[in-house]
Amino acid sequence: MSDMDQYMPPVDLNAPMRGAVCGTVLKSNHPDYAEGAVVSGLGTWADYQIGTPETMNPMGELGSIATVDGFSTFAIVGPTAYFGLLDVGEPKAGETVVVSAAAGAVGSIVGQIAKIKGCRVVGLAGTAEKCTWIKDDLGFDVAINYRTEEVPQALAAACPDGIDVYFDNVGGVILDACLKLMNLKGRIPTCGLISGYNATEPVPGPYNYAMILMQRLRVEGFIVLDYGDRYPEAIAALGQWMAEGKVKVRTEIVDGLENALQTVKKLYTGANTGKLMIRVHED
Ligand SMILES: NC(=O)c1ccc[n+]([C@@H]2O[C@H](COP(=O)([O-])OP(=O)(O)OC[C@H]3O[C@@H](n4cnc5c(N)ncnc54)[C@H](OP(=O)(O)O)[C@@H]3O)[C@@H](O)[C@H]2O)c1
Repeated sequence: MSDMDQYMPPVDLNAPMRGAVCGTVLKSNHPDYAEGAVVSGLGTWADYQIGTPETMNPMGELGSIATVDGFSTFAIVGPTAYFGLLDVGEPKAGETVVVSAAAGAVGSIVGQIAKIKGCRVVGLAGTAEKCTWIKDDLGFDVAINYRTEEVPQALAAACPDGIDVYFDNVGGVILDACLKLMNLKGRIPTCGLISGYNATEPVPGPYNYAMILMQRLRVEGFIVLDYGDRYPEAIAALGQWMAEGKVKVRTEIVDGLENALQTVKKLYTGANTGKLMIRVHED
């Protein structure tokens, strides 16, 4: 929404809000899109919309996975976690992976993939309930409540062998604390900077920037849209892990398009756990 250089044109004033959407085809003029089929893609916050093959794809066969879990995971956040961690972060078995916003949609999947790859996984989240969920249900090794604990000390205690991969969803002070503990040749996939999205003043750079030089770090931003042609690989892997119970996903669904504006604010206050979505229609 911000009028700044970014990876997509900003949403124009008074234009419908853009978003990942999932719905049922009511009327079709295209042979590949049967009426009644479930499709998903890039659309707008709306009751009805006109899709094209460029913007909407059939959801495909989901097997035992519920449509809502398939959409919540496969549309954006699952491939973001998959490619960001595996392609950019390149974790190896035995390494220490730290992830912020760890009980969120992307972060909760990142941590579980890192466990599948044999890493020690440390997550930061903003409530005790979120910390309990990622540790007890998702199998993270350590969960740090960054709102109640001293982050530098808690991270140092949780990462006695340093950090090899820091999957950054938030930027800011958590990035700074992680930079300080990075190991030689460590990797930082920069996925998101949510702590600064609503900043009205310039955001200070990390104080521990020198660690990038000293420890020969690779800090690399990525946008999931760049991996569009490799989505089937991510969906196949995630689908298998979900079916095997190795990746668990949580969704938080709010009913009513009229609640979308208030709901999106939950991402910034931390009031959501897992993938936050609006249900426009019951069916
Ligand atoms: N690069 C890409 O292609 C791509 C694609 C999708 C998403 N993203 C980015 O990935 C990140 C996670 O997105 P998501 O959709 O999975 O959202 P999410 O993690 O489900 O929700 C955002 C979470 O961020 C945490 N948060 C908010 N403000 C914070 C702050 N100041 N400091 C620390 N944590 C804060 C909150 O959890 P707590 O309770 O833990 O604070 C909140 O629940 C976002 O930065 C998003 O922009 C990037």
